[in-house]
Amino acid sequence: MEILDGKKISNQIKEEIAIEVNKMKAKGEKVPHLAAIIVGNDGASLTYVGSKVRSCERVGFESTLIKMPATTSEVELLNKIEELNNDEEIDGFIVQLPLPPQIDTQKVILAVDPDKDVDGFHPTNFGKMALDMSTFIPATPFGILELLERYNVETQGKHTVVIGRSHIVGRPMSILMGRKGWPGNSTVTLTHSRTKNITQIISQADIVISALGVPHFLKAEMVKDDAVIIDVGITRVPDETKERGYYLTGDVDFENVSKKASYITPVPGGVGPMTIAMLLKNTLLARERHRSKA
Ligand code: GUN
Repeated sequence: MEILDGKKISNQIKEEIAIEVNKMKAKGEKVPHLAAIIVGNDGASLTYVGSKVRSCERVGFESTLIKMPATTSEVELLNKIEELNNDEEIDGFIVQLPLPPQIDTQKVILAVDPDKDVDGFHPTNFGKMALDMSTFIPATPFGILELLERYNVETQGKHTVVIGRSHIVGRPMSILMGRKGWPGNSTVTLTHSRTKNITQIISQADIVISALGVPHFLKAEMVKDDAVIIDVGITRVPDETKERGYYLTGDVDFENVSKKASYITPVPGGVGPMTIAMLLKNTLLARERHRSKA
């Protein structure tokens, strides 16, 4: 069994990005600038966005964090998005999800300029991804592809079972794993809450990508020997013995599943840090595209 070490690989990617940023600086060019909007006070979202912004600083990007109150109206958020769309200083930006209930997430996704949509959530970018055109690939699926690639994991002809059909992870992942090329060329089954016989389907998987958010859902007896296990779940479980008041856990019973797997991602330290690294990569790509257009 080999650990797919997202922490190590994400640090390598950040070093590679920092080298590119240094080259830009040496030539006197503008460095990439990422902005992140967060609406409300959800603890996990604030932590994620905080680490996205800190990572920008570490690789030499400019970054802007825009915190808006939980009571923000849809119009106020759309106005802020329009401001960022028109701000030439900003190369890419994200609106952290989920949003408070008074805001229509679909309207928000549609409002982001596709050229600055480093999350890859806009239909233009999502459609390009599905059609194998060059675009921003959503950071979490992009990070999973990158991990598979850097560890030389065979995906061709394999049966990949994706658990969860969210627009952020499961749906794009199912498209990407079935694309021509590597990583890809997989036969994909996308499973979700209405799937019948889910355990039977999972037991046939060569590669399991779980993005469910149910702690310890995936047990050793559910997976094939030598399966590749990608755990996207990251749930805060209350624990008063911890200083933070919780611990983080994935969808996978790591202790037991790891004994059967050929490759497995840990939580934390697997997919999570890769998401941030790939967001930075998309922001670098956005800067390069803006420069070549200017
Ligand atoms: N919420 C959970 N994951 C993500 C992500 O990758 N991007 C944004 N914008 N929100 C998220």
